[in-house]
Amino acid sequence: MESPHCSCGAANMRHSRDESLSMTSVNDIRSSFVDYFARNGHEAVASSPLVPRNDPTLMFTNAGMVQFKNVFTGIEKRPYSTATTAQKCVRAGGKHNDLDNVGFTARHHTFFEMLGNFSFGDYFKDRAIELAWNLLTKDWGLDKNRLMVTVYEDDDEAMALWKKIAGIGEDRIVRLGAKSNFWQMGDTGPCGPCSEIFYDHGEHIWGGPPGSPEEDGDRWIEIWNLVFMQFEQHGDGSRTGLPRPSIDTGMGLERISAVMQGVHDNYDIDLFKALIGTAAAMTGADVNGEGNRSLRVIADHLRSMSFLIAEGVLPSNEGRGYVLRRIMRRAMRHATLLGSEEPVIFKMVPTLVREMGQAYPELVRGEAMITETVRLEEGRFLKTLGRGLQILSDETKALGEGDILAGATAFKLYDTYGFPLDLTQDALRARNIAVDQAGFDAAMAQQKAEARKSWSGSGEAATDGIWYGLADSLGPTEFLGYETEIAEGEVKALIRNGALVDALETGDEGFVVVNQTPFYGESGGQVGDSGLIKGDGVAATVTETQKHHGVFAHKVTVTEGRLTKGQPLELLVDHERRSAIRANHSATHLLHEALRIVLGDHVAQKGSMVAPDRLRFDFVHTKPVTPQEMAAVEDMANAIILQNSPVETRLMGVEEAKESGARALFGEKYGDEVRVVAMGEPTGNGLGWSVELCGGTHVRRTGDIGLVSIVAESAVGAGVRRIEALTGNAARHRGNNHVAIVDAAAGLLRAGSHEVLDRISALQDNIKKIERELTDARKKLALGGTGAGAAANADETVNGVTYVGRTVEGIAAKDVKGLVDSEKKRIGSGVVTVVLKGEDGKGTVAIGVTDDLTARYAAGNLIKLATAALGGQGGGGRPDMAQGGGPDGSRADEAIAAIRAAL
Ligand code: ALA
Repeated sequence: MESPHCSCGAANMRHSRDESLSMTSVNDIRSSFVDYFARNGHEAVASSPLVPRNDPTLMFTNAGMVQFKNVFTGIEKRPYSTATTAQKCVRAGGKHNDLDNVGFTARHHTFFEMLGNFSFGDYFKDRAIELAWNLLTKDWGLDKNRLMVTVYEDDDEAMALWKKIAGIGEDRIVRLGAKSNFWQMGDTGPCGPCSEIFYDHGEHIWGGPPGSPEEDGDRWIEIWNLVFMQFEQHGDGSRTGLPRPSIDTGMGLERISAVMQGVHDNYDIDLFKALIGTAAAMTGADVNGEGNRSLRVIADHLRSMSFLIAEGVLPSNEGRGYVLRRIMRRAMRHATLLGSEEPVIFKMVPTLVREMGQAYPELVRGEAMITETVRLEEGRFLKTLGRGLQILSDETKALGEGDILAGATAFKLYDTYGFPLDLTQDALRARNIAVDQAGFDAAMAQQKAEARKSWSGSGEAATDGIWYGLADSLGPTEFLGYETEIAEGEVKALIRNGALVDALETGDEGFVVVNQTPFYGESGGQVGDSGLIKGDGVAATVTETQKHHGVFAHKVTVTEGRLTKGQPLELLVDHERRSAIRANHSATHLLHEALRIVLGDHVAQKGSMVAPDRLRFDFVHTKPVTPQEMAAVEDMANAIILQNSPVETRLMGVEEAKESGARALFGEKYGDEVRVVAMGEPTGNGLGWSVELCGGTHVRRTGDIGLVSIVAESAVGAGVRRIEALTGNAARHRGNNHVAIVDAAAGLLRAGSHEVLDRISALQDNIKKIERELTDARKKLALGGTGAGAAANADETVNGVTYVGRTVEGIAAKDVKGLVDSEKKRIGSGVVTVVLKGEDGKGTVAIGVTDDLTARYAAGNLIKLATAALGGQGGGGRPDMAQGGGPDGSRADEAIAAIRAAL
């Protein structure tokens, strides 16, 4: 990604002091560079992340221009045409790996900062040279006699400009070939001839100017590379012109700080002095003693590990996570070389945050996450380090100089004791023993094959087989979505109709797997993300994202072009939707804790669902949550939202996390390492008000939730309750809707909204009263012998007994008995039969016998005759009152006649 001669390359360790330069701190130098270019019309742009969002093939950002690569080629537009940055860079993985050199040289780092200024078709060579020369010689006051420059061999223009602008002679300008002075981003991308500025550290140091036979010496050090970007290199070897000639420059902050602070060694600058001083204090090592090399390694690696963790990279056995683990373990081994037996590097994090946190606030935000992650990794590694080193020494006892350690042994050290291969190599280097890398790789492949076999039992469906296969061949997808919602990924697999395919055409539906993604795959109750993916001439909508054995499956519909394997894609998460999901997930944690406080410790989570539009949370509780309890829960959660305190995430061991009081989902399987999400100011000495094991995505500050409102409470099973809630705008809109409903009701009632309740209950009372009156009126009507509901019946005397037989309509079945009672009262002595012809055609009959006659006639017996006449059977009751019914109400008269006949 960078030229062989860049501002941060290797050199030997020598010391010099230029008394003419005054001491200026690294922080001052960084800001004075950026201020200078801002003063000269450049947009001061923040460093882009170490994990490049715009290049799926690049492991870590390793030059200032990386974030601008598409601006140079014209694909991306920005609202400015010149820019300046201090860019964080890591060179510890992939093609450019300085890991092994750190500690041995004066100028190698795994982490460094590159200062740069950029012109995107604005100024070109002349202004670039002028700006650089003026900063160095005027603003910073470097002695121009100590400076020399190089130009590309046939770049007469640059040669002439240097003479004119800097006023230096040809003796101080060296023409060099493409190897040194043509800068290329990589196999493809923006490129052009360059011109480098060198600083002379003094004749007491051995070495010669660039291009001389002694150039590898340490006297002349390259401090600044000005690249005259003119071309774009393509994959097929061809080169085309950029839309407009541009400028990309890079100056290593650590190098220029050494110059400005009058030291020769980067590790002697103030920033490294502070870090090395802390490392020495923590390990008890002597800064000037034998352990100096280890202190340098620790100081350097502390920076790269902390910055990577702050960005969400976590130690693992894959990809970036593995590079991080190698850096961490190398530093840890050096701490043990200095005699540390306990975790110690995590204690150095505060010094780094103090030194660099102002320029890089992500360190301040991530301090807890960094500290816990480092401490955890140290604990884990120290546990096995002793055993591993013992095995290493046993296994190599018989080996001598030039021998080779078996690959299987190196793999065992890797697999069981967590020794990255390069750590084993590092430990054996001094004895000149190599490791059989092919044997190591074979052992690794063998283990993966075994692991695959053990999977086959659980993979039932055909597609599940595909996911297992992809998990095996590709490894887990790297999730970038804790930190970003936009990133580039490279297509690794495509699936359509349950089978792997080479392409998805316009209109096709299928799944896309990429190497890295900002899309969250559905898990832990949180729904997957949706959004868009775009590439050269191709676009697709992502409708959902699933996660299968660590592989993220983006379900897509191709809307334009053709998706093929190997294609780089830009992945854009639907921001609004994700923000709503974040708010709902964080609110779920707050409600969980509030429920526990209000209802009691028995409130264990039984499940949850976090969607963009709502959340629900199921928990153990045996009775309904009362409105008062619900209000208390909601108030508590909203109080934490109003705190607007930062939400902190850290990585911890699962046991340690549980001991710290973090809530975990009962019965859930967790890995060895878990993310612990803490929010709200702690009330005790815990990590936060709410602390939970959680892999989901959360808001940055609790205030981002806006508000939370519980909208429903219900039972979902024995002893499990469910609450449903809304946050932010969804909660606000619901509130607004309810106000609108009340207002509309008030309008209908012609009342103020505060009167609505009283008016409704008055209306209800009124309705009840009217209903009662209506019933009475109907009864009266039914017995009054007039109107549609009444049949013209009369009292008769049968066998010396008064008999009343009536047919009624239009009253409720339950009121029939009441009619019989009132007729009994009216006649004083006798038998009463009332038959209701129902609207449904059925008949309901009640028979009453006054007490003086119950010895002769039992209503309970008579009723059977009446129901039989109505086509039914049975019916029952007491001797004085019985009720029954039958399907045929039209035979009411027969029922009445049947009783008459029985008297
Ligand atoms: N991109 C140039 C470099 O890395 C400035 O050296």
